[in-house]
This record gives sequence, C-alpha cells and structure tokens, in this order.
Amino acid sequence: MDGFAVEVEGLVKKFGDLVAVDGVSFAVDRGEIFGFLGPNGAGKTTTINMLCTLLAPTAGKARVDGYDVQSQKNEVRRSIGLVFQDPSLDDRLTANENLDFHAVIYAVPPSEREKRKRELLEMVDLLDRAEDLVITFSGGMKRRLEIARGLLHYPKVLFLDEPTIGLDPQTRQYIWEYIEDLKKREDTTIFLTTHYMEEAEHCDRIAIIDHGKIIAMDTSENLKNMVGGDIIRMKTDDDARAEEELRSRYDVNILEDRDCLCFEVDRGDEFIPQLIRDLGVRIQSISLHRPTLDDVFLKLTGREIREEGADELEIMRRTVRVRPPFAR
Ligand SMILES: Nc1ncnc2c1ncn2[C@@H]1O[C@H](COP(=O)(O)OP(=O)(O)O)[C@@H](O)[C@H]1O
Ligand SMILES: [Mg+2]
Repeated sequence: MDGFAVEVEGLVKKFGDLVAVDGVSFAVDRGEIFGFLGPNGAGKTTTINMLCTLLAPTAGKARVDGYDVQSQKNEVRRSIGLVFQDPSLDDRLTANENLDFHAVIYAVPPSEREKRKRELLEMVDLLDRAEDLVITFSGGMKRRLEIARGLLHYPKVLFLDEPTIGLDPQTRQYIWEYIEDLKKREDTTIFLTTHYMEEAEHCDRIAIIDHGKIIAMDTSENLKNMVGGDIIRMKTDDDARAEEELRSRYDVNILEDRDCLCFEVDRGDEFIPQLIRDLGVRIQSISLHRPTLDDVFLKLTGREIREEGADELEIMRRTVRVRPPFAR
C-alpha cells in the first residue's frame, strides 16, 4: 500500500476542560521508527490511544495504514500491534498460552500459529521459557513477551507505549536490539513513545511533545544542531598564542575555563580537522561535546524533561500488582 504508515492532522483530545492533545499533525513513513518524546502528562499515551482506535478524537483526523481511525476502526485494528504502557499479560498463564489467546483474538490461521509463535519466541529469546508461567518472568522478559505478542498477527504498524519504562539499562539495551532487528527483518513501521532521551536516539525521527503540542520534529542530529554549537576543549603547548590565533583567524568566542581553551563552534566535527591542520601551535589534547536531546528540550521549554520521582512511581506501578486476595 502506498502513502504514509501513519498520517495525523490537527488531532485534539479534550478531557473536560483539560486539553490532553492539542492539535498535533505529523506523518510517519513506512518502515520508519518514529518516536514521541516528552515528559509525563505530555499527551503521548492519549495520542497512541486515538491512533489505535481505543479513544475517539475530539477533533482532527488520523489514518493508520491508510485507514481512518474513526470510520474504519476494524481495518485499523487489523493493521496494528500494540504494546501498552502498563503490563497486560495474564501472568497466571504460560508464555505460550498468552500468545495462543492473542492468536485466537486476531484470527491468526491455526496452520500458521505454531510457526509464528516459535519464530517470535526465538526472536525475543524466550523459546526455552514458552511453557513457564509468566508470573515467574522478570520485568524484562515480560516486556519481551509483550513485544512478541504484539507482532503475532504481523501488524503493519507496531505501537509501543514506553516500551522500556522502569527496566534496567541493560534490559533496555536488549529490547532496543530487538526493535532495531525487527525493523530490518520485517519492515514494520514502529511508533513509540518515551521520556528517556537516550532512547529517542534510536528513532529515525523524533517529535518532541509538551503540553499536548509538538514543539519540534526532526532527526536527533538535526534537533541537536538546532540548539547551537558544539563545545570544544583544547590544551596546547602555548594556550595564549592559540587563543590569539583562534580569535583572529576563526572569530570564535573563548568561554571561561580555567585550565584549558574552551570555545563553541557550529560543527565541531568539521572544525577540529581544520584546526589540527592549520593551527600554528601544537595541540596536546582536544575534546568535543555535542549537545544532547536534553539540551534541546531545555532550550525549547526552559525545563528538564525528567521530573524527580517519576521513574520510581513507574517502577512501582510495574512491579506491584494488586489482585483480590481470593481471586486465585
Ligand atoms: N481518561 C482520562 N481522563 C482525564 N484525564 C486524562 C485521561 N487520560 C489522560 N488524562 C490526562 O491527559 C494528560 C495527558 O496524559 P497522557 O496522554 O497519559 O500523557 P503521557 O502518556 O505523555 O504521560 C494528562 O494531564 C493526564 O492526566
Ligand atoms: Mg503515557
């Protein structure tokens, strides 16, 4: 099918007086990994829920895999896979049983089921745990199983709402390897949300969302270039002379720093080779600091993206499962 995998125009969601999503517009190419990056409460989950037909938009239009999320709900649902922000496996069933349940709901042909289950469990490294109860799984294993489940019906677009929230860095890295592998192997379009800066780096393009609005959208590289220059720190055999030369020849602004020469340039990666070639003083050491997505968010909003305490709350939500005492 031609066209975009996801196409959104002026999407709005209000909850009473609260405008959770405030007129967002964007398009995701087929095969792209597209990320929504923003702090808690920015409107990420609400947007995903509208795209997945779980929530009706207050205004605006959205198409997923070419289908309208309001008038073609069933077609949209068949085209997508969804991994919720909160865990949604039945942990009193085995991994295999969780997948079977999903296969039935999504009408995966019975003749296909065993093959797909095996292939996906292998992909997420859980084949040897297929017959174990999910309750015995670690947080990372559960997340991997949820990703496998989301792929069982071969969706065109996979939605991942905070896929690695509350997981340790090593498990996060592991899950990212699967996501990137998936993109290569299946050409699946991936739409994900995150409030982890480092994680957004894995996306082909990022939309930064704050208070329901997209405040910037581009590749991570271009977003960072927007912030301003790169910082170069340098020591030479004769810093006074080097400084004089930097000022006169390159017109750079020397920043305050006690024990080395520190200055800002537009493209450090291009400036350093030139400097090494042309500077009349021997360089002893040189380092480059590129702006991070944190710097981008800070520049755009004046705030840090990660509020204190948010992560701890998420970890609790993920691990503490409340179940009625007599339900088992
Ligand atoms: N069902 C709901 N009813 C009322 N307010 C909601 C509901 N769902 C989300 N919100 C509010 O909408 C805003 C955006 O929430 P959400 O989309 O979950 O943000 P994010 O996923 O970026 O953390 C928040 O202020 C949240 O409290
Ligand atoms: Mg959310």
